[in-house]
Order: sequence, then C-alpha cells, then structure tokens
Amino acid sequence: MSALLAASFPLSTWRATIYLVAIIGFVIALKGLSSPRHARRGNLVGAAAALLAIAITFSASSVTHSTRNLGLALGAMALGTAIAVPAARMVKMTAMPQMVAIFNGVGGAAAALVSVTELLHVHSTGVSPATYEVVEAVLGVLIGCVSFAGSAIAFAKLQELMATRPIVYKGQQPINAVVGLGILGLGLAAIVTGSTAYVFGVLGLSLVLGIIFVLPIGGADVPVLISLLNSFTGLAVAASGFTLGNSLLIVAGTLVGASGMLLTRLMSKAMGRSLPNILFSAFGAVVTATGTAEGLDGKAVKSSTPEDVSVLLSYARKVVIVPGYGLAVAQAQHVVKELADSLSAKGVDVFYAIHPVAGRMPGHMNVLLAEANVPYDELKEMDEANPEMPTADVALVVGANDTVNPAAVDSPGSPIYGMPIIHADQAQHIVFLKRSMRPGFAGIDNALLFDDKTVLLFGDAKDTLQKLVAAVAVA
Ligand code: TAP
Repeated sequence: MSALLAASFPLSTWRATIYLVAIIGFVIALKGLSSPRHARRGNLVGAAAALLAIAITFSASSVTHSTRNLGLALGAMALGTAIAVPAARMVKMTAMPQMVAIFNGVGGAAAALVSVTELLHVHSTGVSPATYEVVEAVLGVLIGCVSFAGSAIAFAKLQELMATRPIVYKGQQPINAVVGLGILGLGLAAIVTGSTAYVFGVLGLSLVLGIIFVLPIGGADVPVLISLLNSFTGLAVAASGFTLGNSLLIVAGTLVGASGMLLTRLMSKAMGRSLPNILFSAFGAVVTATGTAEGLDGKAVKSSTPEDVSVLLSYARKVVIVPGYGLAVAQAQHVVKELADSLSAKGVDVFYAIHPVAGRMPGHMNVLLAEANVPYDELKEMDEANPEMPTADVALVVGANDTVNPAAVDSPGSPIYGMPIIHADQAQHIVFLKRSMRPGFAGIDNALLFDDKTVLLFGDAKDTLQKLVAAVAVA
C-alpha cells in the first residue's frame, strides 16, 4: 500500500502540493494584512505558510544535499532567529520603517548571493552556463544588490546615523548615468561570455547604484522608497526562484514585488506626488516655512490653555481627533484614548480621522491607536471622515500638520498642492497640539495655524493631553 502511494505520489509531487498550500497561505495572509481588523490573523497565516514551506524544503533538500550544508543552513536560521525575534519584539513603533528597511535589505542580499552561488556552482561542474542562467544571475545580482545597499542607506538615514535630508551634489545625474551604463555593459558582457568576473563587476556597481540612488531622497520620503526597494527584493527573490527552479520562490517573490509596487503607488497617491517626484526631486532639501508665530499677513497665532480647551471640548457635540506624526513621537496614543473616553462619557460624539500618510509609514496611526485599544469603529478613514468635518464642533489636531494644510487645496504653487487632506479647516473650532511653530515634514507654512477659528496648545502632545484629561474631569 505504502509502496503504491509512494509510486503514485513521489516526493516531488508532495513537495509541489505543499508548496501550493503555502502559496495559498501567502495570498490569504496578504488579504488579511489589508485591514487592521484582520492584520494579526493575516500575519499568523503568513508565518505558518512560511514555516510549512521551510519544512518541506528541508525534507526535500535532505535527500539531495549534504549534511554539512544542512548544518550550515540550520545554523544560519538559528542565528537569524536569535537576532530577529528580540529585535522585532523590542522595536518602537516610530522605528518600524528602519526595521523593515534592514530586514528587506538582507532579503535582497540573500537573493543576490543565491544567484552568484548558483552560477559558480554551474561553472564548478565544468559546464558553461546557459544564456538564460546568466541572465537570471545578472538580474538577481543587480536587483538584490541595489535593494541591499539602498536599504542600508535608508536604515542609516532613518536611524539618524547619517544626515536625513536629501544629499545632492554636482554632477549627480551624469554619475548615475555612468554607473547605470557600466552595469548595462558588464551585464551584456556576462551574458555574451558567461564569465563570472563580469557578474562580480555587476555586483560591485549595483552596490554603488543602490547607494547613490538613495542619497538624494529625504528622510521622510524614505518609507516610500523602502516600499519600492521591498518590491525590488521580491523581484530578486523571484529571479532566484527561476535560478533554483523553485516555483514557491517565484510566486512568493512575485507577490512581494507586486504588493510592494501597489503600496508604493498608494503612498505616492496619498501624498499627492508622483513616484519620479519622490525619487528624483530631493523633496525636503529646501525648507520654506518662516517658522514664526506671525503669519505672512502679520496675523499672530492664538495660544490657549488646557482649561479653556477642556471647556470647548466638554460642551461640544462632535469632536474629531486628527492624529499625526507628533502623536507617534510623543507616544501619546494611550492618553489620547483616555481623553476620547472621558469626552464620550460626557455624551460627546468622538471619532478619529485617519489620513493615509499621517505619520511616517502606511497604517502608522492605525497601528498606534490599535496598540491603545481604540475600537476600530472610532477610526474613520479620510474619505469617510471628511463629509463629517463641517458638522464637527472641534477638530483636535494632535501632532499633525501637512495632512490638514489647506495649501494642498488652495495654493497651486505649493509643494503639497494636490495632496488630499483631512478638512480640519471646515470644523467650527480647530485646536492644534504642537511644541513650536516648526513646520511638518514638507517644510512649509500652514495658514490654518493663523485662522480665526484656530487656537494652539503648545507643548509635548502627551503632556498637553494629560493636562486636558485632568481639566476635562472638572469641566
Ligand atoms: P507632519 O506634517 O510631519 O507634522 C508633524 C507635527 O507634529 C509637526 O507640526 C510637529 O510640530 C508636531 N510634533 C512633533 N513632535 C511632537 C510632540 N512630541 N508633541 C506634539 N507635537 C509634535 O505630520 P503629518 O500631518 O502626520 O503628515 C505626515 C507627513 O509625512 C506628510 O507630509 C506625508 O506626506 C509625509 N510622509 C508620510 C509617509 C507615510 S506612508 N505616512 C511616508 C513618507 C512621508 P513641532 O515640531 O512644533 O512640535
């Protein structure tokens, strides 16, 4: 019976079937990750599918590979787990983009190494590699190395190990063009001759390209870049899937490539900027904001006190909280929920208006507020929140700036013109919580700060919210 089963279902069929199950798991995981409500489950499904894929790969490899290589692979996995698990558990929410950058970078490097190793392996058997094998290796090395070096620079920028602003220098474009042409020439030479020396040339220049590609991109545009590099890593993994003849790697790599590209597009759209503008305009190199409490027409901002604002909030019918990057910096997610709860207890209708690029990474505000157990039905996405803004008594803007800046709608020359915003300006009253008159990421003035309906509560958001909670309790 078992002999019959083994004959009708050889190991390769079992492997292909289990790979298919893992692929379906990856697709279900991606679907789950598209909503905060199901993200945790999606993550677990994805991890289980990856575990299944690794297990079956090992059971198949053990038949074909030496025990020594298995030992090396298991050792590498143990080392990776020992580094990644504590790092992922301890990372702060504000440091998540650099964590993704570094994980993504090592993925790109691994894909490039697989491509080189496989080519060396073919040469070691004394056979000349077929043209398609060299093409796969060159593509895997190129994309993987750009992704690795680019992600390393992105990590250094976000971790503030180097200047976060765009780094521009004379002759930048010609230098990029020379490096690009060099890679093209070496890649063609590798394909024509099959020589690994040219592939190593591609490897070196691709690392240089990754660095010079990322240098002119400003710190806060880096999350978009990371999403793009993540997509590149997916393609590099798919290329190594072709090299290794592994269908799972091809599909998983393509899924990562496609979802990374879609996310990059969504982020660019939500910022109202094209991808070429994000990648090549050195956005953020120039700060145009005056950064003073006097507006351009001489109007001064009105500063208020927690006591006055608590009365405004307590007697409102509808309060819309607009969170932004400053909320994350201040780690004020728990205390903002405390404030919302005490207002709700007084019969005030409270919800949060979430801009798609509030903060510094996709879903930044959703994740922060979920961490504080804010119920999902209190979070309204921009398109759902905006029609309610004219009926809001108060828009409480907590550490947000660009995402409520009316210049995006009424100033055609503004760098953020065209970016969709939360219409905080349509509420009856606007309260800004920020520390100073410093601008947001775009580096431009915000006329809403000087509006007659606006008051400012200066100070760290967490600190100010704590004072508001205390004042609301006695208002
Ligand atoms: P920003 O426009 O960057 O404004 C953040 C505000 O928070 C600033 O006004 C800052 O003023 C204030 N702030 C900082 N630390 C604070 C603290 N501890 N307490 C109180 N306030 C504090 O934020 P936003 O409205 O969330 O917009 C996000 C920006 O990032 C957009 O321009 C967007 O295009 C860009 N971006 C987003 C993403 C994604 S995917 N989310 C990716 C790339 C770029 P003070 O310094 O005066 O306190």
